Amino acid sequence: MPLYVVGAGPGDPKLLTIRARELLEEADVVAYGDLVPEEVVKIAKKARVVKIGHRRVEHDAAIEALIEEARWRNVVILKNGDPTIFGRGVKVCKMARERGVPCEIVPGVSSFTAAAALFQIELTDGENLRHIALLSYPHFSADILREIKADTLVIFMMGDKLQEVSQVLAQVCNPERVYLCVGVSLGGYCEEVSPEVLGEKKGLRPTLVIVQRCTSSKSIKM
Ligand SMILES: C[S@@+](CC[C@H](N)C(=O)[O-])C[C@H]1O[C@@H](n2cnc3c(N)ncnc32)[C@H](O)[C@@H]1O
Repeated sequence: MPLYVVGAGPGDPKLLTIRARELLEEADVVAYGDLVPEEVVKIAKKARVVKIGHRRVEHDAAIEALIEEARWRNVVILKNGDPTIFGRGVKVCKMARERGVPCEIVPGVSSFTAAAALFQIELTDGENLRHIALLSYPHFSADILREIKADTLVIFMMGDKLQEVSQVLAQVCNPERVYLCVGVSLGGYCEEVSPEVLGEKKGLRPTLVIVQRCTSSKSIKM
């Protein structure tokens, strides 16, 4: 049997794909991480449920065991958002194939497209917003930002480090707009904030920061 790595979307079960719902209904085992709400997991009525820790060692050990189980049972690994975006989905399938277990990835609605759609934030407009870059902790710094020339930047996994995001932006550019998006599709919000106000926010999870036109470069202080 194949192992299924399934996009759980940003949180609201209504944003699951039909394929994801079908696989959950058929699953014998469902594994999920802490950003997947219980409401989504509960769709798998007849499945044994396994919670996966997010530390790399715990994650990889749990995945190894699930791959073995997929040889004779219907195993679904739920990944928040889309499994291919900061979700190690392709890596999991590679591990499965190396052990002779076929693997299928089911795409999901990523949190950043959900944020853009639900709160009507234009990510691209073909004029001033021509491209998007996706960044995530720990690969976020002033040097990285100076290398990236995209009009829209989406920053993942920095919810606990918004002060750092604000400081890095202050070093590199005067962005035209910054949005803070918290708990999108889970009763949360996106709001436009100044980089200074962003730096004062704490304890918000899960959080995305969308930065637009971080292009007016500041000189590097020696
Ligand atoms: C490990 S990454 C997984 C990203 C996911 N694969 C996706 O496509 O959205 C987890 C990060 O995604 C973002 N995220 C996930 N769900 C979110 C939500 N409902 N609202 C805001 N940000 C979210 C946060 O930046 C969080 O720290």
